[in-house]
Amino acid sequence: MRLLFTRALDPEWIEPLKDEHDIRMWTEENIPMPRELFLKELEEADGVFTNLTDRFDVEAFERAKRLKVVSTMAVGYDNIDIKEATKRGVSVGHTPGVLTEATADLTFALLMATGRRLRESIDYVRNDQWKSWGPFMLTGQAIYGTTLGIIGMGRIGQAVAKRAKGFNMTLLYHNRSRNEQAEKELGATYCSLDHLLARSDYVVLLAPSTDETRKMMGPAQFQKMKSTAHFINTSRGTNVDEQALYRALTEGWIAGAGLDVYEKEPISADHPLVQLPNVVALPHIGSAEVGTRREMVRLAIENLLLGIKGKSLTHIANPEVLEK
Ligand code: GLV
Ligand code: GLV
Repeated sequence: MRLLFTRALDPEWIEPLKDEHDIRMWTEENIPMPRELFLKELEEADGVFTNLTDRFDVEAFERAKRLKVVSTMAVGYDNIDIKEATKRGVSVGHTPGVLTEATADLTFALLMATGRRLRESIDYVRNDQWKSWGPFMLTGQAIYGTTLGIIGMGRIGQAVAKRAKGFNMTLLYHNRSRNEQAEKELGATYCSLDHLLARSDYVVLLAPSTDETRKMMGPAQFQKMKSTAHFINTSRGTNVDEQALYRALTEGWIAGAGLDVYEKEPISADHPLVQLPNVVALPHIGSAEVGTRREMVRLAIENLLLGIKGKSLTHIANPEVLEK
């Protein structure tokens, strides 16, 4: 079987596969495979190990006549046209679960960094602006005892809620459906999106990217937030109308934003959002903890090997393909 790895992995992962499989791998670190080459390589591939930077659209599936499985090392799979994959009998594997705690940690770090103005404070020292301690110098917002609104109460949302409990935060959440387990175990209160926005000191967005969530945070939503509140996004940039967010941050609708994801990635240094002092901008590192990333690779390879044999995957995004 021909296996295509669109990202460079160390030999320790690849060597054990070489006896049985014909391996093709892109070897540039931290640079995606060029689209043309990707499409060309797809023509011969039985299985692909991928990540969120490769687009599996109709054009890609059209070229991939032998493809049995697309295995992404990510929980989100909005870069893959799931309907098209299912139509063509291609299984789509992903890696939920293993990145929950790391992503919740990063989400909480971003919340804290944003609320307490860490970016400006770090720059303050580095730029030699610190001349004296000041009574109200670089004062931010409280975290302990405030209200946290979680949009999207899935695995990661619940893991963030657990951390927030240690900070004695009041927990509100909004989700497609009620999560009674989260209500019982975490004391989270289900409410409408409008209510959550109006009441929360921190609004954390953790919804997947779907047609329903596209730009779900727009001008009307940011206007409903408190002027002292912070917005944190560690889900997908496409869930946010970035122009509306920019207005919210520059016109005082909200106090600040912590962002790990963007409408278009990578975001450049001169992007208006990145330039704002009240924005903490990170390069999509939610799950970037070394043990977590190893687990994601391990699980993605497991899904890949099951998929080329036509077996059911450990974690599949399109279980309906199995009925085919
Ligand atoms: C990262 O964003 C992921 O979906 O795993
Ligand atoms: C500040 O450092 C304080 O001692 O209150």
